[in-house]
Amino acid sequence: MADQQDVTRRDFIRITGGAALSTGFLSKFAGAAHAQLDPAKKVRVGIVGGGFGAAFQWHLDPNCTVAAVSDLRSDRLDHLKNVYKCDKGYESLEKLVLDPDIDAVAVFTGAPDHVRHVVEVMNHGKHCICAVPAGMTLEEMQLLKETKERTGLKYMMAETSYYRTPTMLARELWADEKFGNFLYSEVEYYHNAIGMERDALYFWNGKPTWRYGYPPMLYPTHATCFHVGVTGERLTSVSCLGWGDDDQALQDNVYDAPFCNQAALFETSGGNICRGNVFWRVHAGGERAQWLGEKMSMYMAGYGGRPFNVSAADQPGIAAPPDYLHLLPEPMRIPTGHGNSHGFLTHEFIAALVEEREPAVDVYEAIAMTAPGIVAMESSRRDGERLKVPSFDRT
Ligand SMILES: NC(=O)c1ccc[n+]([C@@H]2O[C@H](COP(=O)([O-])OP(=O)(O)OC[C@H]3O[C@@H](n4cnc5c(N)ncnc54)[C@H](O)[C@@H]3O)[C@@H](O)[C@H]2O)c1
Repeated sequence: MADQQDVTRRDFIRITGGAALSTGFLSKFAGAAHAQLDPAKKVRVGIVGGGFGAAFQWHLDPNCTVAAVSDLRSDRLDHLKNVYKCDKGYESLEKLVLDPDIDAVAVFTGAPDHVRHVVEVMNHGKHCICAVPAGMTLEEMQLLKETKERTGLKYMMAETSYYRTPTMLARELWADEKFGNFLYSEVEYYHNAIGMERDALYFWNGKPTWRYGYPPMLYPTHATCFHVGVTGERLTSVSCLGWGDDDQALQDNVYDAPFCNQAALFETSGGNICRGNVFWRVHAGGERAQWLGEKMSMYMAGYGGRPFNVSAADQPGIAAPPDYLHLLPEPMRIPTGHGNSHGFLTHEFIAALVEEREPAVDVYEAIAMTAPGIVAMESSRRDGERLKVPSFDRT
């Protein structure tokens, strides 16, 4: 996937052709992890899922101890033990959650298991960070919200788009009201699953995995996060078109889903417009957004050689986003996956628990990024009928 090029904070304040934004501007950053925490405070984390779940920095966070790891597969259990330098392994999440010496669990199992697994974790009194998406049905969204509110525990969704550096910059610019009154965003996630990679994703040991024929709009958060995670707005209605052909995986998948590409048009709670695409079959790749405002527009770099750019009516553009690594504890200031987002996701969850506050992508933000895709899927099934997205926010 096309990650943004790394740049330094100095590059950020090197504004093209004129007055610089002040460094104080950076301090307005919303949703940042904190660099300085009491080192005596340790969160004991259990990690489940040795695929993507092995790609985080729990072992580097000064406020985190990896207490145990788990995967149903012994090869992946061994991998987790090696990566996180942890000897304690459990054969399943269901066994791991019984361990009284664990405060929080990182759930990196397949998407159809997320809500069931998060509920299992929280019902055992442990905080939870879970991979995207938050869930797959509106009923699951309600159960997730109720479980979080009933238990009072912390929940975070590990949405990588939230901590891509252009997203962090866009969040600052939005908070500083730089875009003006009107904002139109184009947000997208393209993963061209073809050839060998597709086989590896779709089958394991000759059997279909949860990814076989998985519908794009039930995996919307890498895209929707670029609008919801920048503005805090909600996507309140949607009309979505789907595309599919006679591919076998679109005929016999367990989701009864005939689409591999879906394009949605969302209305937002702020009276703005968001166009969101998720495509599995397209000659393009990666997560990308562009935000077109009344006074300022910002374009992420991406596939096809498109460069980063910010243009503004009443001030010079910004040359490049900063890397923001100074916001992390020193041992975590390293390149990580998905545009360096993994280190921020890791530390934000730990920092939230140490500081006894809600994490950046809490249950309400997570559902606000996930539920619009669930409704978009239904809209596609109804040939683009415009449908309301229900709210799961605090009442
Ligand atoms: N950019 C991103 O945010 C990003 C990228 C890749 C994957 N993901 C998400 O991360 C999650 C994991 O992705 P993946 O590619 O590793 O999926 P995967 O299906 O390859 O791996 C899931 C793992 O969970 C294990 N597991 C399932 N149930 C378990 C249980 N009860 N106890 C212990 N282990 C259990 C499985 O054995 C498997 O190894 C998915 O939800 C995916 O959507 C997100």
